[in-house]
Amino acid sequence: MNVAVIGVGHVGLVTAATMAKIGHNVIGFDIDESKIESLRTGVVPFHEPGLQELFVEGMEAGRIRVTTEAAEALGDVDVVFICVGTPRKEDGSPNLSYVQAAAAMVSTHATRPTVVVEKSTVPVQTGERIRQALTLQAQSRGEALAHDVVSNPEFLKEGTAVEDTLYPDRIVVGADSPAAHGVMRRLYEPQLANHDCPYVATDVKTAELIKHASNAFLATKISFINAVARICEATGADVQTVADAMGHDVRIGRHFLNAGLGYGGSCFPKDVEAFIHIAADIGYDFGMLRETERINREAKRWPIGQLRRLLWNIGDKTIAVLGVSFKPHTDDIRDAPALEVIDALVAEGSTVRVHDPVALPHVAERWGRSVVLCETAEDAVRGAHAVVTCTEWPEYGKISPAQLADWLEFPVVVDARKVWDVDELTAQGLNVASVGRQ
Ligand code: UDX
Repeated sequence: MNVAVIGVGHVGLVTAATMAKIGHNVIGFDIDESKIESLRTGVVPFHEPGLQELFVEGMEAGRIRVTTEAAEALGDVDVVFICVGTPRKEDGSPNLSYVQAAAAMVSTHATRPTVVVEKSTVPVQTGERIRQALTLQAQSRGEALAHDVVSNPEFLKEGTAVEDTLYPDRIVVGADSPAAHGVMRRLYEPQLANHDCPYVATDVKTAELIKHASNAFLATKISFINAVARICEATGADVQTVADAMGHDVRIGRHFLNAGLGYGGSCFPKDVEAFIHIAADIGYDFGMLRETERINREAKRWPIGQLRRLLWNIGDKTIAVLGVSFKPHTDDIRDAPALEVIDALVAEGSTVRVHDPVALPHVAERWGRSVVLCETAEDAVRGAHAVVTCTEWPEYGKISPAQLADWLEFPVVVDARKVWDVDELTAQGLNVASVGRQ
């Protein structure tokens, strides 16, 4: 089939590369010339394991190309994926103007009936809005609506996006006509032939809601365990063991019960906020999600409180921060909990020595000379009065507590991501704050 992808950011590019991999002819469109230029030379302009290889494989097989020309992208397509951004507005609600612009583009340039697929995370009922926009455009030309609208939410996680998309744990397709369902089924048939997973066929609104409900639930699970962590710290219980034991109950499951600095990234914070707004718009107060957010804000402030407890004044100290990306295996620092930690340290006047294996260019962009960029973790920690872990990059776990004790000026470790074993740290004479442990 011929597939167009509008917006080749994280979701769009992974979608494009996966569609090419399963045998479709794909064209990716973006208004960002520099991004398209980089992709034309086979370079993926962000860090996502395996994506570069998959993209180049598709290009070399002649199944994927990219363009900034809408007419070229939409001239001859069966399916159009809308993968544009839905940034937050000031009030926390999602800005859907790029989605509307993408729909207008399809209406103007598609030369035959297509299936227009929402891949971006959008509020329930956006499909209706897209249909309305397409209808108005068609009416203005004296035509009837020719396109179908489908919701096919993406559940990929950054860092494992390629794996998640090639081997998803479910495919959700919401459509309001048998014809559109038929097209989507044919689109995914080659993938389902190689990878057996539930194919959930629903109406458009249900599919839209599944995405927000899933992300809000996962975020709530994280906040729940972070609240339990506070109780563990105060009472001497161990949150890790609590989570492990809870996780043995199949009704609960162990995933997303890792206490830490709270959730960050481009999805959870934005999606929880958007879901609260969506609910409020229809007159429902989703207070539970407001509490999820409150606990998350508190979790991000935990390291600063611990540094104050262990060091007293921190403005005159040198603090090593290990990890800035919102989670390992990505260079994405959008809404990363580390931002709040570093901002607070900079505001205090501390000397902040920062290491991250891949995100340092973004750190330089955001803080300039207010922080010291360190090429290695050792470089950051040597001579610092304390070290704070903000991302659990596996390489940090390879630093032995003895090495830490040797490098640090003061023996203070604030481990917000459970990188090291608390007993091994204390055995080296280190003063330790570890999430969910007294
Ligand atoms: C998330 C969803 O998992 C994915 O299905 C959706 O499509 C997009 O949003 P992503 O943002 O890439 O994916 O990251 P994820 O691995 O879910 O982690 C989100 C945040 O939660 C990270 O900051 C992570 O550190 C934090 N987290 C996750 C915890 O603090 N504890 C956990 O147990 C799990």
